[in-house]
Amino acid sequence: MKQMMMVFGVVCILGLSIAVYADDDAGGMESMMAHHHAMMHGMKTGADQRISLQLPAAMRAQQLAMMREHLAAVNEIIADMAAGKFTSASRIAHQKLGLTPEMKKMCTMFGNSDFRKLGLAFHKSADHLGDELKSGNTKRSLRALHTTMNYCVQCHATFRQ
Ligand code: HEC
Repeated sequence: MKQMMMVFGVVCILGLSIAVYADDDAGGMESMMAHHHAMMHGMKTGADQRISLQLPAAMRAQQLAMMREHLAAVNEIIADMAAGKFTSASRIAHQKLGLTPEMKKMCTMFGNSDFRKLGLAFHKSADHLGDELKSGNTKRSLRALHTTMNYCVQCHATFRQ
């Protein structure tokens, strides 16, 4: 076990060094040490600094299943766009990611109001994505998809189950 931790640490440090060299002009040694320190601290404590939603056991599996459906929907939208099927992509955005009555109900079940707000804004952005896709304009559609995915990224960085 101890050996495994050591190997993991070395791999992390190697990865970090490569990342720092790739971004050499910004900060150099000092920022590398600060980053390294923060990372080692995180590893030692194993701390997940995100806000816990304190989800009851009964909701956990369902929420993750819903999330996997969101991921699959994004994947379908991208495939449809690549095939020029913008009408289908638009339908998926509205039906699987948009603010349907079902999604609204689901979002209001969460106790944390910031999480609820983020969830609702996310679903609204997906309806906007659906509208942009309908126009058939690739650039505008990608911009809207990026906005929607920013909500995925932002929420995951902030909250955990
Ligand atoms: C409003 C918040 C929020 C938004 C928006 C959000 N998620 Fe999540 N997602 C979560 C939370 C909370 C978890 C659980 C993370 C944890 O406990 O570590 C999660 C977990 C997941 C998982 C893991 C599923 C599993 O089976 O372990 C996937 C995949 C995922 N989300 C995909 C997405 C995608 C793709 C989007 C955007 C299209 C998205 N999520 C938008 C909150 C959100």
